[in-house]
Amino acid sequence: MARAREMQDLQRREFLRWLTATPFLTTLGGFGFGKVAGAIAQEAPTRPLNSLVTSSQEALDVFDFEKVAEQTLPTAHWGYIKTGVDGESTQANNRAALERIYIRARRLIDVSTLDMKVNLFGREWPTPLMIAPAGYQKAFHPDGELATARAAATKNHLQTLSTVTSTSVEEVNEARGEPVWYQLYPRENWDGTVAMVNRTREAGCPVIVLTVDLNGGSNRLTLERYRRSDDRNCDICHRSGGRADPVKPMMRGLPSGPRDIGDSGGAGMTWEYIHRLRDITDQKIIVKGLVTREDAELAIEHGIDAIWVSNHGGRAEGSGRATVDALPEIADAISGRMPIIVDGGFRRGTDIFKAIGRGATTVAIGRPYLWGLGAFGQEGVERVLELLIEELAITMRAVGTPTLADIGTHSIGVEPIEPEVEE
Ligand SMILES: Cc1cc2nc3c(=O)[nH]c(=O)nc-3n(C[C@H](O)[C@H](O)[C@H](O)COP(=O)(O)O)c2cc1C
Repeated sequence: MARAREMQDLQRREFLRWLTATPFLTTLGGFGFGKVAGAIAQEAPTRPLNSLVTSSQEALDVFDFEKVAEQTLPTAHWGYIKTGVDGESTQANNRAALERIYIRARRLIDVSTLDMKVNLFGREWPTPLMIAPAGYQKAFHPDGELATARAAATKNHLQTLSTVTSTSVEEVNEARGEPVWYQLYPRENWDGTVAMVNRTREAGCPVIVLTVDLNGGSNRLTLERYRRSDDRNCDICHRSGGRADPVKPMMRGLPSGPRDIGDSGGAGMTWEYIHRLRDITDQKIIVKGLVTREDAELAIEHGIDAIWVSNHGGRAEGSGRATVDALPEIADAISGRMPIIVDGGFRRGTDIFKAIGRGATTVAIGRPYLWGLGAFGQEGVERVLELLIEELAITMRAVGTPTLADIGTHSIGVEPIEPEVEE
């Protein structure tokens, strides 16, 4: 890589030397190009196109943060962000499906003011962009979830905190300036779950987001490969593992008891679990990880407050199905009766637009803000949020949709996949 860059620089210098020596420039001078020629001849040092950004403000899109985070983070921690499952087709298809959708641009519509506001459970948010729950954020930056919360506060975005947060919910709420939503991985025993839910309710969290897409476990090969190539001693931080793990403050002090939803992280859980939760809390309940019409209908039947369409960013199952492709059947089943949140592969303002076009109420991001966090801490997360909203604003103006309500199925289309033609 470095060698290739050296070669490029060398070729560039040789080209400039040739250009200044050639009569071509003398001729151009006659046409008033003398200044240009002079400027070229100065050989001002040019930054290689693929160099890393050195500050959050320099980033032009969220992928600039990905490159920095990859270079900055310890190998195993990078593997934890990067991993999907199996051959990672679900993760790849989250992106591929978005790329296949195009936007139908309308012209000559007054877009001088934009309205991106959304209302969730009576609380208004200025934009439809949310922060998805992600575990162990101190693995990406020493300030971890606090940096994310401060960025969410500065930019006014809704944040959902993971059960496996490396900072307690009380501290995160304080940094955010208001209670966050809390993502729940149920404990293996009911008393533990009750204690955890009570704690979040007392902390003021208005919403429990029950994640149901990992109940059968997940086959994260990339994580394992990166972990193997990292020769640091993981036990120094992850001393005891499991419930008493010092990097999992929400597990501390929970009562133990007999397992009641099976092994493998809740393999025995059914819809009945929602009713058990409903009986112990008045918080809103959202189910995260639904991807079919059938489950959307069951969610309505079982009194869920909102649906979170997710495949855990391709980290749960190897179905190969993109979340944006699951949206239409879910939106159809829900038919406006509850909010629909979606995540999985959203990296640009145009992606957010496409999800809204397919019926999402809001869009959540996972990896992009973790890239920002790993690269530049709070500032990085802020810039990621800012970039995506700037991009969404440009898109809305460019295609004639001044409000989110103007975006619908009529705003998008899908490229047909052409059959391969044999030569
Ligand atoms: C490093 C990492 C940790 C995650 N931890 C959790 C978690 O603790 N709970 C959860 O419900 N989802 C978790 N997720 C999934 C995200 O909430 C979200 O569904 C996913 O990241 C969205 O896809 P994207 O990363 O392509 O944006 C995690 C994702 C990543 C990348």
